[in-house]
Amino acid sequence: MEGSRPVTGIDDLPVRDELRGKSPYGAPQLDVPVRLNTNENPYPLPDPLVERIAERVREAARDLNRYPDRDAVQLRTELAGYLTRTGGHHVGIENVWAANGSNEVIQQLLQTFGGPGRSAIGFEPSYSMHALIARGTGTGWISGPRSADFTIDVEASVKAIAENRPDVVFITTPNNPTGSAVPPETVLALYEAAQAAKPSMVVVDEAYIEFSHGKSLLPLLEGRQNLVISRTMSKAFGAAGLRLGYLAAASAVVDAVQLVRLPYHLSAVTQATALAALEHTDTLLGYVEQLKDERDRLVTELRAAGYEVTDSDANFVQFGRFEGEGAAHAVWQKILDRGVLVRDNGVPGWLRVSTGTPDENDAFLDAVRAIKKERNA
Ligand SMILES: Cc1ncc(COP(=O)(O)O)c(C=O)c1O
Repeated sequence: MEGSRPVTGIDDLPVRDELRGKSPYGAPQLDVPVRLNTNENPYPLPDPLVERIAERVREAARDLNRYPDRDAVQLRTELAGYLTRTGGHHVGIENVWAANGSNEVIQQLLQTFGGPGRSAIGFEPSYSMHALIARGTGTGWISGPRSADFTIDVEASVKAIAENRPDVVFITTPNNPTGSAVPPETVLALYEAAQAAKPSMVVVDEAYIEFSHGKSLLPLLEGRQNLVISRTMSKAFGAAGLRLGYLAAASAVVDAVQLVRLPYHLSAVTQATALAALEHTDTLLGYVEQLKDERDRLVTELRAAGYEVTDSDANFVQFGRFEGEGAAHAVWQKILDRGVLVRDNGVPGWLRVSTGTPDENDAFLDAVRAIKKERNA
């Protein structure tokens, strides 16, 4: 074609400047016997739930000639019921919104409250998608501080909010990749600072809250219109493949995200599958209790083996400390050589392991004990 030239790669395309030279997000996947690197729930869905999903999807299939319920009324009603039962705070359908994974919830929030000329702050290390979704939505990103022990330093964070006046503040509790929950007093202090500075939206990412020793921050929604709690069915419900995230907030926030959501964004198949999973909440939360015990065992055994471990309220554990440049990655490789894949999130000196089945955790513990012995020998 006249005037055209062969396209050889992304750099030959007129992509946005801020995307140039960047790589897509994704944990490296390797085909090894034990994969404990992506914070998934290791238990496959139980047979009765698989049957129920098939039934519900079969029913939904008849109507696939039609668009799905755009407002996901039944699903949001059930999610509101789940939050009310387990979160210590009444939540109605008008307070709940759902999307394809909490990543999409976060994207919709940033499309609504961030965007070009606006900014968001997160306290790092934390869930790196917050920064990436900010970039994707044209929202400026501010990397906020964290203490050496990975807790949020209230004074320094309040100062960062006052100085930068971000439009969106992310607080991840329990935090990924460090594992610890954020005390409610800290969230309240940051919320007050954010209101005084702008006012801005505060998004509390509770993706792992069901694994916490403590409680959900859902009751903090009372009287706080600019607070959002984001949740997912990817972790506690063991349904990462389903892609279902949701938020709870004042009804005005739910109305606001309607301005950016794509029509019919949640397929009828997704809605049917999520409803089936919610019918089996009690069974799935039973697995969570087993995983919490195993998580606590990982913490205890890692410490007994001589590793440092950050307190964990999540389904994963951050362990170290590996001194020297590249030391954490070298240990990551040694663990991999023993058939176990963990995650090097790039936090200097630390690695992260997701809680697996008891056998998978044993394989991991055998590997790290052996590595420790080698180093001490
Ligand atoms: C803190 C945090 N928030 C959100 C997510 C995304 O979850 P989803 O699968 O619902 O998009 C993750 C996934 O690992 C996460 O760690």
